[in-house]
Amino acid sequence: MPCDPKLLQKLQSARELPTLPAVLIPLLRHLERPLESQDVHQIVDLIAKDESLAARCLQIANSPLFGTSREVESIQSAVVVMGLERIHQIAVSCSFLKLLPSLKDVSPSVFWAHSLGCALVAREFAGKIGFPDPGKAYAAGLLHDVGIIALLSAAPEQFATALRLARSEHMPLHEAERRELGLTHEEAGKIIAGIWHPPPEIADVIAHHHTPDRAAENHALVSVVGFSDLLCRLNGIGYGYSETRQTNFAEDPAFIGLAAQFAKFQPFDLARFTFETEGTLEEVRTVVTQVYGGVQ
Ligand SMILES: [Fe+2]
Ligand SMILES: [Fe+2]
Repeated sequence: MPCDPKLLQKLQSARELPTLPAVLIPLLRHLERPLESQDVHQIVDLIAKDESLAARCLQIANSPLFGTSREVESIQSAVVVMGLERIHQIAVSCSFLKLLPSLKDVSPSVFWAHSLGCALVAREFAGKIGFPDPGKAYAAGLLHDVGIIALLSAAPEQFATALRLARSEHMPLHEAERRELGLTHEEAGKIIAGIWHPPPEIADVIAHHHTPDRAAENHALVSVVGFSDLLCRLNGIGYGYSETRQTNFAEDPAFIGLAAQFAKFQPFDLARFTFETEGTLEEVRTVVTQVYGGVQ
């Protein structure tokens, strides 16, 4: 189906898009500097200024997922105990969470669990294969599907039809979107990335995580997230339904691209990593249950 020009217009004019949480882009901008030159006070202030954000950050900081050896009661003490990088990741996740209550048809907790799961798997996977910036992989994994938020906001009924098709056929969501809307959440994401201006490499992930071979730049990051997204979906942290597909990882474009770029990828034990991933995703479900009251 060709894309409805009215839908394109709505996306391009940003009409009906949810308001971006004020701290999200400033927090992401900090990723553009090396960790050693980050301004700790600036980041702590950014988080502490928003009381509900700070409270959620502490809830997650004290959860099994980011488990600390001792209870942290303030953002400052969390930085001391856990380090700035971890607190930054938690804050990005919690501010992203604020975008979600407006979702219809996709449960916000399901969407957040998928995004958080993808972020954690991408960070872990990046570290294992020697990708130089696992923190960036985390943020990109968290935000990779913002195009879904755009489609849900701009065309809720058409998106619901695509989701029903995906559910009934157990097919990848982006394929169902292509059929029902003539446009995928990658393409919608590319449009809103042009409006929200996340860091450019995150914009590339938003636009190409299902088609990493089409990314002109940041191919490694796009592939790391694309592959992590696939692992999450195949491990039951997808969009609230199961996909039945025969996956030959060796033929996946993200897999092929990474194998060519990272020497550590060749002896990489995928079966073992998938097994370890299951534990991480179980923890994601626990945290989302604590924070959101359950993955429905
Ligand atoms: Fe996606
Ligand atoms: Fe995804």
